[in-house]
Amino acid sequence: MRVLIVGGGGREHALAWKIRQSPLVEVLFAAPGNPGIARDATCVQIGVDAQRDLVAFARRERVDLAVVGPEAPLVAGLADRLAEGGLTVFGPGARAAAIEGSKVFAKDLMRRHHIPTAQFSTFDDPDRARRYCRELGAPLVVKADGLAAGKGAIVCRTLGEAEAAIAECMERRGFGAAGARVVVEELMIGDEVSFFVLSNGHDAIALAAAQDHKTIFDGDRGPNTGGMGACSPVGVFDEPLEKRVMETIVRPTLAALASEGAPYRGVLYVGLMLTTGGPKVVEFNCRFGDPECQVLLTRAPGDLVPWLLAAAQGATWPPAISWPHNASVCVNLASGGYPGAYTIGLPIRGVDAAQARPGVRVFHSGTADREGRLVTAGGRVLGVTAVAETLEGAIAAAYAAVGDISFDGMHYRTDIGRRAAQPREGRGP
Ligand code: AMP
Ligand code: GLY
Repeated sequence: MRVLIVGGGGREHALAWKIRQSPLVEVLFAAPGNPGIARDATCVQIGVDAQRDLVAFARRERVDLAVVGPEAPLVAGLADRLAEGGLTVFGPGARAAAIEGSKVFAKDLMRRHHIPTAQFSTFDDPDRARRYCRELGAPLVVKADGLAAGKGAIVCRTLGEAEAAIAECMERRGFGAAGARVVVEELMIGDEVSFFVLSNGHDAIALAAAQDHKTIFDGDRGPNTGGMGACSPVGVFDEPLEKRVMETIVRPTLAALASEGAPYRGVLYVGLMLTTGGPKVVEFNCRFGDPECQVLLTRAPGDLVPWLLAAAQGATWPPAISWPHNASVCVNLASGGYPGAYTIGLPIRGVDAAQARPGVRVFHSGTADREGRLVTAGGRVLGVTAVAETLEGAIAAAYAAVGDISFDGMHYRTDIGRRAAQPREGRGP
């Protein structure tokens, strides 16, 4: 088979690494890829937004399966364009990807189909939004409707913060057109879990759960980032809970999309809050998480490609394989200053040494090749990922490998996976 991966971050590196291992795959392309992906795939310099060029390339190269990593091209209809070009695509069309592309669409869908989520209302008028905030009372969450690079949800502890968030979104347009409409919703309390399922348009199967660490500093402090690290599995998300989420959230949501003419083919990322009132949806994403993908795929058993193909073709799933009792941890190494402004082009040392450790993979998120030297090229630079038999073992292995790597200004959280590794009492639904 000839496979094309669209994207060039840590998630796509993990996909390339896993897909490369499939005996079905003869040729693997990535557009645009990155220096890490270049070890597993042939990188072609086509950006994820260049829809026409991507379709032309995939047709010319007789690609059998296109796997789209990031949300922006999916929401913009890349899967539709590829399908119109006769290609088999893993990733939903624009109508189904709206489940991530428009929070108003996602929340209205959940309301229409009685899917558990935070109480909410949607607004295109800032005064009405403010009035609703006063009715609901703080704390609450204000969310820009459209894609905002993971920064569009503002948790407001006071009504003053809510007023400021509404002004920022709707009046100052801090998130551009994405903030023309907002969702205002109640703040949910509980453990947050990212749960991943594959859907072939009419049937869903569970992959696994992971926990992201969104804030920049240890102890969940500081501003939100794209994700500073992840771990999988998540102890609180046990089999009965997974079953309950499949029955009360995943299947009704996918059936709702299909009944509204937008069958979902690809991976659905179900962002959950495990509240005392049961699991509720925080958000849906139309793709693998980053860095959740890195921990899922390093844990995943067997060949991923037949599963991606079945989802893409709307075909029957291959025979089930059970997930091993292992654990994976990914620690993201970030540029100094991230998630604010940062410098790029700084030399990176030690990746090969880190990668020589057993069970360790270093996925590239924001790197570039400058005359044969690896340099920083983004806010999140590398995802140091380790698999072991236990979560504690994976944490230790990942941090030992982090110790091999350095670049000026490098920073990272030192507590990835620790909360999940701690025994807990009286938590969860
Ligand atoms: P979102 O962009 O919707 O994924 O939100 C980003 C983050 O904000 C989530 O991962 C949660 O940590 C937090 N968040 C969003 N909505 C809520 C909510 N209703 N209650 C509590 N936390 C929330
Ligand atoms: N790690 C969060 C996300 O991919 O949206």
